[in-house]
Amino acid sequence: MAEACKLAAGNWKMNGLRADLAEARALAAACSEPGCGVLLCPPATLIAPMAEALAGSRVMGGGQDCHASESGAHTGDIAARMLADAGARHVILGHSERRADHLESSEVVAAKARAAQAAGLVAIVCVGETEAERDAGRTLDVVLGQLAASLPDGSSAANTVIAYEPVWAIGTGRTPSLEQIAEVHDALRTAVPDAAMSLLYGGSVKPGNAAEIFAIGNVDGALVGGASLKAADFAAIVAALDAA
Ligand code: PGA
Repeated sequence: MAEACKLAAGNWKMNGLRADLAEARALAAACSEPGCGVLLCPPATLIAPMAEALAGSRVMGGGQDCHASESGAHTGDIAARMLADAGARHVILGHSERRADHLESSEVVAAKARAAQAAGLVAIVCVGETEAERDAGRTLDVVLGQLAASLPDGSSAANTVIAYEPVWAIGTGRTPSLEQIAEVHDALRTAVPDAAMSLLYGGSVKPGNAAEIFAIGNVDGALVGGASLKAADFAAIVAALDAA
């Protein structure tokens, strides 16, 4: 069976001006040795300049969302092939902030993932339960339900990565127990259409907890928000994944 690729993915969310490309350059300098995949997803305005700044380095660039259509009358939206044209290799889709702020359903996420894959991008499809859903004992139902509805036909390890991000762990400093992460990742491994698909954990990953999270079976990397904004923090997370 093919091994899942290791990936440390940073999500800058709505943070970053051109001056912050210095952090991306510093990350590339700190990660000069070959190892796991390293990805930064800045706001759309920085994708092209970041791709130029990081050309030839180990650090890839990606987007945080795309539209399901190839082009057309969709003011303010960005098509997957525009991201690819700007130098993106991946795109995050179905992040809980977009599911909440933009009412994105799993069906919408699947349509976006299909567009991303068709444009040659790797879709990073996010799933995760709210605290109320966990408290109600519905975590696996919710996560596996989102997974099934968010992946278009033809999703494979080559064009899709899954990120498990409990909503209550994002930006809060709280993380599930290692057993709770393992339970969800084991279930995801069984449920994904291609067993070699990379499974990332996301939600308050930082240098201090990365190694123990990466030691969990079926965790192939992380999707990192806050701790990806500073090169030193993210480089420490990359180093932990390299060592795992
Ligand atoms: P966080 O965000 O690392 O700041 O918790 C993770 C994410 O939303 O991808």
